[in-house]
Amino acid sequence: VMTKKRNEQGHLMIGDIDAVRLAEQYQTPMFAYDVNAIRNKARAFKRAFEQTGIDYQVAYASKAFSCIAMVQLVHEEGLSLDVVSGGELYTAIQAGFPMENVHFNGNNKSRQEIREALQAGIGCFVVDNFHELELLEEECERLQTQTNILLRITPGVEGTTHSYISTGGEDSKFGFDLFNGQAEAAVEQSLAVSSIQLQGLHFHIGSQLFETSVLTKAIATLYRHIEHWHTLHGFIPEVINAGGGFGISYTRYDEPLEPEAFVETIVHSIREESGRCHLPLPEVWIEPGRSIVGEAGTTLYTIGSQKEIEHVRHYVSVDGGMTDNIRPALYGARYEAELANRVTQQNEKMYAVAGKACESGDMLIYDLPLPTVKSGDILAVFSTGAYGYAMASNYNRLPRPPVVFVENDEHQLVVESENYADLVRNDRPLTM
Ligand code: LLP
Repeated sequence: VMTKKRNEQGHLMIGDIDAVRLAEQYQTPMFAYDVNAIRNKARAFKRAFEQTGIDYQVAYASKAFSCIAMVQLVHEEGLSLDVVSGGELYTAIQAGFPMENVHFNGNNKSRQEIREALQAGIGCFVVDNFHELELLEEECERLQTQTNILLRITPGVEGTTHSYISTGGEDSKFGFDLFNGQAEAAVEQSLAVSSIQLQGLHFHIGSQLFETSVLTKAIATLYRHIEHWHTLHGFIPEVINAGGGFGISYTRYDEPLEPEAFVETIVHSIREESGRCHLPLPEVWIEPGRSIVGEAGTTLYTIGSQKEIEHVRHYVSVDGGMTDNIRPALYGARYEAELANRVTQQNEKMYAVAGKACESGDMLIYDLPLPTVKSGDILAVFSTGAYGYAMASNYNRLPRPPVVFVENDEHQLVVESENYADLVRNDRPLTM
């Protein structure tokens, strides 16, 4: 799984560029994305849908990693975009992304965010709750406009993943519940509002899924209810959005399914269920985030200090950590890494890679075999493209790292590094 390209100097390659050179030019820590890897994933999802012959949209979940260049790339690849905040929407606007292909998710959109999205002419809202339905109706009225919506349904199916990122179970802050009649009431209410076009339904089971059976289960559950809503309220879904959550490989032990496997399962189940209910085949939408960008991203760090506790652990510290990758501290997420400047050397020892934040839990990897590490070595941590930069913070007043896109033998800065001035930009000196 983890065969990485290397050059004759024994350096890691990202695209056709020497990672050590990237680290020298842009400084560490830094994120480097292999643009071809992103394009290939985007195309794999689209190709999988093309093979089914169904109408579809693949919306990139920009929460995984959003910046103007990324959104532009998503547009180049002909995907739609899922945003979850005014900030992600603003990024899309700045990137010139076609607003009719933007979907707005989230469980607590503010009135202001809803207004901004309506004014921008967004493609659809994925409405999460009754409060949002009211806000949307009011704002449509105020702006004398109409909008498309999907209703986010909680199918009551647990994804087999970390509980913090599992979202489809019965006890979830997201969506309208099926088991207590919320979802049906939301369908009824949406159908009654003339400024709101109920296009269909949305569900998202969880993130980092490694199997398809939960999707089949969710779709079957959903259609049992759709059948009733059709009979009782004349509701016919034109769109079913099956969310994202398709797992990727962080370490050699992860065996993710191909995009095709997820897409085929989803389309097959929807075909079967809509046929069983004598309903027309809807468009099928998905919203992958991690699986588009995760494996395409690598973080480059420079090794600084070391501390060996004999027979216990050998710590090596890098110049970033939980401030650019909170996932190990937050979820116990595991990563693999190599010394980018000596990838061909034999591993000699187990190391524990620590971040530089003042926090014992700021560890990136607890057991990493490496050649004997020297300070100044460049450590490349793999599969950091999703929810790394996106969840970065300024804890300890560390500036956020730069992001570089590499495509074949070209590379380009797409997000500048923050500097100290950025850190105090919003600070105001004491005046009283
Ligand atoms: N659609 C909805 C409604 C979602 O809630 C999510 C993720 C996605 C799509 C995209 O899921 P993906 O394809 O990226 O797995 N910070 C966590 C992940 C949180 C995911 C939240 N929702 C992590 O670092 O693992």
